[in-house]
Amino acid sequence: MQLKTTHWWKVPTDQKIEDLLSLDILQSAAQLLREGGLVAFPTETVYGLGADARKEEAIQAVFRAKGRPNDNPLIVHLGHVEQLPQIVPEVSTIAKRLIRHFWPGPLTLVMKHRGNLAKGVTAGLDTVAVRIPDHPIALALLRLADIPIAAPSANLSGRPSPTTADHVWNDLSGKIEILLDGGPTNVGIESTVVDVTGKTPIVLRPGGVTVEQLKKVVKKVTVDPALTHSKKKPRSPGMKYRHYAPRGELWLVHGDEKKMVRTIKQLAAQSLAQGKKVGILTTKEHAKQFQATLIQICGSKNKPEQVAHQLYHCLRRFDEEQIDVIYAESFPDNGLFQSVMNRLNKAANGRILKA
Ligand code: TXA
Ligand code: MG
Repeated sequence: MQLKTTHWWKVPTDQKIEDLLSLDILQSAAQLLREGGLVAFPTETVYGLGADARKEEAIQAVFRAKGRPNDNPLIVHLGHVEQLPQIVPEVSTIAKRLIRHFWPGPLTLVMKHRGNLAKGVTAGLDTVAVRIPDHPIALALLRLADIPIAAPSANLSGRPSPTTADHVWNDLSGKIEILLDGGPTNVGIESTVVDVTGKTPIVLRPGGVTVEQLKKVVKKVTVDPALTHSKKKPRSPGMKYRHYAPRGELWLVHGDEKKMVRTIKQLAAQSLAQGKKVGILTTKEHAKQFQATLIQICGSKNKPEQVAHQLYHCLRRFDEEQIDVIYAESFPDNGLFQSVMNRLNKAANGRILKA
């Protein structure tokens, strides 16, 4: 692949959308998107890699830059809910309710499309995933571009999603035209993907909006059984890949708190004795008890928002220090921790230990 010059542009993080709309750098980035270029930008969840969702060439460039398998469709990002009818012929009552409560925000809805997007965006499916992000820079860019923008997470396929401009730079410099730096993202894990094509909404990927929050708005919500039974085929193509993988071997340790801490201590000591570089993914409550090559404190065990916010950064740090084996604490399987556990389970790829 021919190397591109990547421009890293810092965007002010303290301005309202109205003020951002008049910034030269955002106008240039929007213009570049309209011309088929690739622009990485911050959203409230993770950084996205944007391209014109109607241009097949631009979409193929996204797949190439990420090294993403072509059967994994992209999320289309809009700046206004008024743009939705351009790509979706019908919005169900349930979808309307969800939109009213959660957009702009970390909720992606899967709906039937009109067939006017580049084929690569939907990977040939008759549905499209759509969301409106809740981030002033993303919204200003989307409104200036005024076209549907396909944007997967701006990481190399198989690596943790990027939550800072540094992460994007490490994965994609030389492969994209512009990186808009808006500082660290807020939520830290991706949006919740919900299929609203049937009577009952189905959660395909847990994320920034929790199942509990969804249930407050629509009475019945189901969760794709493949999320809890590893043998079932997921309904969302992307969920079958081993995402969020650190380079070292990650072991997820289950069990009640005391036993979990004791087991991680023992395992780390054994691995250190074998001459391995050992990482521990822990919380501030337990960190003092451990010894390892690199201890990553992912916030407080009582603050799921902190853990979600820091998770991918911690996973990337293990790679930077070339850690061989990582022992990770587990969290309760509800609320935002459910989304965190989904990512940790994928990173562990079946390496689960019961304390
Ligand atoms: O928070 C997010 O959602 C971020 C930011 C940038 O918006 N984006 C993101 O995109 O995480 P990506 O491409 O990394 O993940 C998109 C997920 C994949 O699991 C994909 O398979 C699924 O959405 N998806 C996309 N279109 C779909 C469809 N038509 N049906 C089912 N799943 C779909
Ligand atoms: Mg991704």
